[in-house]
Amino acid sequence: IKLYGVIGNPIAQSMSPVMQNQEFQQFGLDAHYQPFHILEKELETAVKGMKVIGVEGFNVTSPHKTAIMPFLDKIDPLAEAIGAVNTVVRKNDEFHGYNTDGDGFIRALQADWKEDFMNERALIIGAGGAAKAIFYTLLSKGMAHIDICNRTAFKAKKLIEECPYEGKSKAISIAEAEDTLEHYNLIIQTTSIGMYPDIYKSPMSVKNLLPEAFVSDIIYNPFETALIKDAKQKGVKTQNGLGMFVYQGALAFEKWTGIAPDITRMTNIVVEQLGGNHA
Ligand code: ATR
Repeated sequence: IKLYGVIGNPIAQSMSPVMQNQEFQQFGLDAHYQPFHILEKELETAVKGMKVIGVEGFNVTSPHKTAIMPFLDKIDPLAEAIGAVNTVVRKNDEFHGYNTDGDGFIRALQADWKEDFMNERALIIGAGGAAKAIFYTLLSKGMAHIDICNRTAFKAKKLIEECPYEGKSKAISIAEAEDTLEHYNLIIQTTSIGMYPDIYKSPMSVKNLLPEAFVSDIIYNPFETALIKDAKQKGVKTQNGLGMFVYQGALAFEKWTGIAPDITRMTNIVVEQLGGNHA
């Protein structure tokens, strides 16, 4: 049996095990995906342990995505630039680190909006880890017009300044983003504002949102954030973060097995899993 898993702290909430194990079963693969609760101080020991017991691959979630990097044998250039790894693959007894979060976001956007959005004008709300993965991945693919607004302005500025990929980005305040929202046809919401239990909070007013814009909120609990509800009320097309989550997992599955898993089936089991204790 081939062993896979996910490490994080906490980890009990992770929906990856159910999603990945279903695909292993459906493709008749003799494999198992196990959640591992790993404390920060045990991270290096945990990685060594996974190496010696023969783990074939694993996902990395909060708070280990950056801290794990020194303990891996090789890091993919995009993951290196982002400064975070969410997927590890064993190759010739080496652990290679990748970041599939940004590519997962792109796949989800292509599925729900359109195949080619590289020439659109985007606004990212937030400047944390998720924003960085999405921003750097989009720029690495050649998208140029992406501005960033964040509560803490210098963090948005830093994200842009430290990005190794070329672009035409500027950091703006939330207030300025609200005032100039009609400049953007893609809004990418990456902060935790609106996440359960703060389901009535929105990071900004959509007063100036273009009717033909697309709003992507990477939150999926609740399925519909206040921002998404406001956008929908204006007739604007939206998506939540389920697609990004499913596709980042699908990309990991592909790296491990060489098989492209069934996105609909993965989405359905995650929705089912979330359904019970959902806001
Ligand atoms: P993640 O890895 O999910 O991106 P993170 O790195 O902690 O998490 O980033 C959280 C993001 O949400 C940041 O952009 C943060 O803004 P600050 O940089 O100003 O902290 C934003 N955020 C979280 N709570 C917020 C709040 N109550 N109001 C405004 N922004 C908030």
